[in-house]
Amino acid sequence: MKAKEIYISETPSTNTLVKSYLQEGVLKDFTLVVTDHQTQGRGQMGSNWISEKDKNIACSLYKEFKGVSIERQFIISMIVSLSLIEAFEELKVPQIAVKWPNDIYSGTKKIAGVLIETTMSGKEISSAIIGIGINVNQTNFKELPLASSLIKILGKPTDRSFIMHLILEKFTKWYHQLDKGYDFVKSAYESRLYRKDKVSLFKGDSIGVANGIIKGINQKGQLLIDVENKGVVNFNLKEVQLLSSN
Ligand code: BTN
Repeated sequence: MKAKEIYISETPSTNTLVKSYLQEGVLKDFTLVVTDHQTQGRGQMGSNWISEKDKNIACSLYKEFKGVSIERQFIISMIVSLSLIEAFEELKVPQIAVKWPNDIYSGTKKIAGVLIETTMSGKEISSAIIGIGINVNQTNFKELPLASSLIKILGKPTDRSFIMHLILEKFTKWYHQLDKGYDFVKSAYESRLYRKDKVSLFKGDSIGVANGIIKGINQKGQLLIDVENKGVVNFNLKEVQLLSSN
């Protein structure tokens, strides 16, 4: 399995560009669309993804799937996170973890984000646009105190194309591991989960502000937190926020 790559010097959003290529019917399975300048990058929950021109990775992988049910679609998110984590580890980035659902952290700083947009057919996921943003050689994050980049962490620039190909290699490996099932991928993902088994402070509609311990995820990809005086509670995205770590 070898990815086809499409380079575009500037675009509002590579995820949106992939969508329009799909509407035109010109996109093959396992195509990566990459840009040097994303002007209106989209993040999770309607947020913006800001990325300096020529410094970072902004790309979207179009991938078709077979046999991934809608209820278990979080498996796609997990194999993407695991691919990024393994690529970063190979680059010797320290303390890599995934903050649920798919923010990639080094220590306490976010270095990469993922935006996955799926298409369904019957009860299954037929394809996904996997948007990946990585802070590589950008040094200035004045308005984003929780963000960092590989150059800030490693102290030297990294070739963006090298990283991208490393990610494709890891993704290909994890794609083939899908056959091993949800629980196999889930345990690999949980072993990389940020703040797992540590007391942290959370905020959520159902819990107010409370201490809790991340225990893992369930079959739907919901986050399981053992909340003080409440027991284990399942959370969807938007329902809980990690405030700080003790
Ligand atoms: C997040 O952390 O909120 C997700 C950020 C995802 C950003 C990437 S950059 C390439 C792709 N195109 C987009 O518009 N967004 C994703």
